[in-house]
Amino acid sequence: MSDEFVGSETLLQMDPTVVAGLTWGLKRSFLGYLARTPMSQVSLGSGAGVTTQSEFWFPLADASQFDVQRGDGVLKFSGNVRFIGHGGFLHVLLDRPWIEVTADSALLSFTECRTEDPTDQRMGVASLTWPTPQDDQGDWIWPEVPTALASAGVELFNDVYPVGEALEPIRLRIPQ
Ligand code: HEM
Repeated sequence: MSDEFVGSETLLQMDPTVVAGLTWGLKRSFLGYLARTPMSQVSLGSGAGVTTQSEFWFPLADASQFDVQRGDGVLKFSGNVRFIGHGGFLHVLLDRPWIEVTADSALLSFTECRTEDPTDQRMGVASLTWPTPQDDQGDWIWPEVPTALASAGVELFNDVYPVGEALEPIRLRIPQ
């Protein structure tokens, strides 16, 4: 994916491993497909960024409902990324990611992804394999959280990928 794909003005020259937030490459082949689709657009909103490795970065909004020791609760992030292609037929909005971890599951969700209505309806896009975090200079980091497409995320990608399709891993950094 070239820099022109997202527009050089939106490229953050930062190392996401040192900034509190969620970093996600989504799915390489989907981004490659968009890059090959004429007139497609990727836009960032509400503080979201993109790294030099073309991963999307969402700033940490609230970690107060997450218990790192127990490994459960909710991590909330802000910002959004929007993908548009095929004259608007393809419209994917990934807005305000949350990670919800329980004893049995871990889920990455976004607010209602198919519309611009900023409701609190959430869509579970990816199931996560939740590792224990590492202590890194006063922060908790999760260098690689494996992700797979969850059932509610299938329609989002036009039923192209099946449930369980491997997505890119997530990286997280949360202040202690
Ligand atoms: C006019 C409407 C559309 C047309 C003509 C179209 C066409 C295509 C074509 C030709 C491919 C294979 C091309 C390639 O791999 O480079 C493809 C793949 C794909 N399309 Fe579409 N598409 C349309 C709408 C959509 C919509 C609404 C979505 C929803 C997100 C979507 C998601 C995908 C995905 C996820 C792939 C597979 C990408 C990959 O991982 O390789 N498409 N589409």
